[in-house]
Amino acid sequence: QTIYLKDYRPFGYHIDAVHLTFKLAPTATRVIARMQVRPNADYPGAFFLHGQELTLIWAKIDGVPVTPDVTAEGLTCDAPDAPFVWEAEVEISPDTNTALEGLYTSNGMYCTQCEAEGFRKITYYPDRPDVMSVFTVRIEGDFPVLLSNGNPVGQDEGWAEWHDPWPKPAYLFALVAGDLVNHPGTFTTKSGKDVELNIWVRPGPDEAKCAFGMEALKRSMTWDENVYGREYDLDIFNIVAVDDFNMGAMENKGLNVFNSSCVLASPETSTDANFERIDAIIAHEYFHNWTGNRITCRDWFQLCLKEGLTVFRDQQYTGDQGSHAVKRIEDASLMRSAQFQEDAGPLAHPVRPASFVEINNFYTITVYEKGAELIGMLKRLVGDAAYAQALDLYFERHDGDAATIEDWLAVFEDVTGRDLGQFKRWYEQAGTPRVAVSDDFTNGTYSLTLRQHTRPTPGQPDKAPLVIPFAVGLIAPSGAEVVPTQLLELTEEEQTFTFGGLSEKPVPSLLRDFSAPVILERDTTNAERAFLMANDTDPYNRWQAGDALASAVLMDMITEDAAPDAAYLDGLAAILRDDSLDPAFRAVMLDLPSEDELARDIAETGGVPDPMAIYHGLEALRVARAQHLQDISPRIYADMQVAGPYSPDAKSAGKRRLANSALSMITRLDGGVAAARQFEAADNMTNKISALAQLMNIGKGEAQSAAFRADWKADRLVTDKWFGLTVARAAPEDAVGTAARLTDEPDFDMGNPNRFRSVFGALANHHAGFHDASGAGYRLMGDWLGKLDAKNPQAAARMSTAFETWRRYDPDRQAIVREVLEALAGQDGLSRDTSEMVGRMLADP
Ligand code: ARG
Ligand code: ZN
Repeated sequence: QTIYLKDYRPFGYHIDAVHLTFKLAPTATRVIARMQVRPNADYPGAFFLHGQELTLIWAKIDGVPVTPDVTAEGLTCDAPDAPFVWEAEVEISPDTNTALEGLYTSNGMYCTQCEAEGFRKITYYPDRPDVMSVFTVRIEGDFPVLLSNGNPVGQDEGWAEWHDPWPKPAYLFALVAGDLVNHPGTFTTKSGKDVELNIWVRPGPDEAKCAFGMEALKRSMTWDENVYGREYDLDIFNIVAVDDFNMGAMENKGLNVFNSSCVLASPETSTDANFERIDAIIAHEYFHNWTGNRITCRDWFQLCLKEGLTVFRDQQYTGDQGSHAVKRIEDASLMRSAQFQEDAGPLAHPVRPASFVEINNFYTITVYEKGAELIGMLKRLVGDAAYAQALDLYFERHDGDAATIEDWLAVFEDVTGRDLGQFKRWYEQAGTPRVAVSDDFTNGTYSLTLRQHTRPTPGQPDKAPLVIPFAVGLIAPSGAEVVPTQLLELTEEEQTFTFGGLSEKPVPSLLRDFSAPVILERDTTNAERAFLMANDTDPYNRWQAGDALASAVLMDMITEDAAPDAAYLDGLAAILRDDSLDPAFRAVMLDLPSEDELARDIAETGGVPDPMAIYHGLEALRVARAQHLQDISPRIYADMQVAGPYSPDAKSAGKRRLANSALSMITRLDGGVAAARQFEAADNMTNKISALAQLMNIGKGEAQSAAFRADWKADRLVTDKWFGLTVARAAPEDAVGTAARLTDEPDFDMGNPNRFRSVFGALANHHAGFHDASGAGYRLMGDWLGKLDAKNPQAAARMSTAFETWRRYDPDRQAIVREVLEALAGQDGLSRDTSEMVGRMLADP
């Protein structure tokens, strides 16, 4: 059943307060709810409460037993048209809840995940974000630690009570109970309020992995005060690490629940990338306290209101911790690979979808990352000062509201007087706009003609022109910048912009800083790409030119067996040698396009990608690069060693990143001597696992892999890394067999989303392995998705996106994928989650 944005209607009742009592028991937890209900005079309606997989024990209105109509989706009850008290007791079974939604157990601890619609698996309730209430929670259970939202108001042996003074929707409810220990901290807000901070983990080795997260939390709290003027609003802020968790983390009011992989860190077990990601996720969840919790969403169509903005805020935060340039390159690169792919395929949807079957399927890169790009475009269009004013107005006007994208845009309109009607199309129109660029130089005037076009996406055949903030600079053939960055605003289908007073035809640097999430279409040459790679003053465009050049070179190698273009290799050499450049920037310049992106580029130009040819093309370029740069790599490797005890700070991490890029080149030539040495000597996971990966890349490292496996058997998160790396570094013809073999390991556990993803996510990303011509990769994935769906629909539906690009490949491969997807679609009892995804992927384009 499809839900539509246009059908939105407020609930017929207000819930002024809710009191919940939990009597915890593994398979028979009782939940008693008491709600103060008041009819909504403006929108009278039926008294319908959501509820799924609940056993109703009794229900009362004003103390009198009632017999509601109960269905699989909820209950309806005759109710007075004056305020009343609703009470009900239900029984639920956390221990057998393998969907990890609602109340469930993970390694003996109770925890919850309610966003988006999990609260209805806990008790009967209007489980919709526009129904906000004040929650008081009593937990009874034989555990030393019993946590819920808000402030603690009482506790003793076997029970605890919590009260959250801030009205909130049910999706922000959380409960945790277990034998847990805290890593404590404190924070004093700008206005002098003391806040108790805790990171809760199970006793044991995890206790030594909390310090970084605690520092990250304090940094985030300070940053939100300084940059957005937002202070924390409760006496206590708790974070809990949970091993079995479907996503990264969840911003429940005052009680954030984290996938343990997104909060626990130590130098020996976590890479620099892990540290950076943990820092960003802790910030993200903390920032939700204002953008998400104090101001929430009216309905789930508005998901990007909180997610896009909060991602944008965490991106700003991460930039402030290290390099804005490198962060921008990484965010843009993710958009261009993964989000453009979503926009171009069967799963394309607008940043604010107009309909859905299962909302859990819309926690996507489009809603999150493209949603964040829309905030960035708004900021660029109105300027930093107006952005700050608009945000102040947003917090002031909408605090306590369940708001909409219309509300969000209105604050910008009110602050700037600008009409954002056209800008709003960015929220409503799916697909990536293409901007075709042509230019001309006559009598000292350079003109740029921009023409925009967006291809049809499922359900949206016609697209209207968007407002595209298009940053450009002009560079003279000498390499000097003659026109510094200017922001052009493309609002029509086609527009020409001119730049006068130039003595010679400049080279344009287009879409600087990735000023809009669009695809540039322009005839250009490798010589021009190499020129920009060497001379552009905009770091993103410098990277982009290098990436485009690498793609062009690879394309010739793959489709024409050409030798790698020396312009690219010389350009890289110059960048590597330039010690004035940030090491992290030099390292990203060495990143190559992925096999998947190359497959996309081939399909885009009308070809049919051959996964093995792509694989070999990339390998050949890696070897050629290693040879071409062999005089520089050892020097870089030596220079970039970081002395002293490990620190995950951005500067040290950047050096390690560059050192490990150099090591990957050295390893192509020295047979693994340097990598083996690094593996032995490494005192941190970054250098350890990078050395292991380099060895595996050249078909070595068997002993090291076995040692790594044995050393870390007891550490779940490192073991996930080992599973993932083993699949990722398998030879293409072995990848499927390796993944299948790993599912027989005693510690493979499909019930743990991290472990499942470590194998099947890695397989999906092993382009040549997954797309093996035999179809074995497709079949293995299909079989396991079918098995997983029966336990954990959300996780299965998410992983099903492995098939998103299937129509790119040849008819034989397509036929196998179709068979696999149709078998899944026909599986008995397939979840709504997976069936929506499979249905969309099978639909005729
Ligand atoms: N709100 C959480 C976050 O972005 C993620 C919740 C994901 N929920 C889901 N059903 N996929 O921080
Ligand atoms: Zn979020």
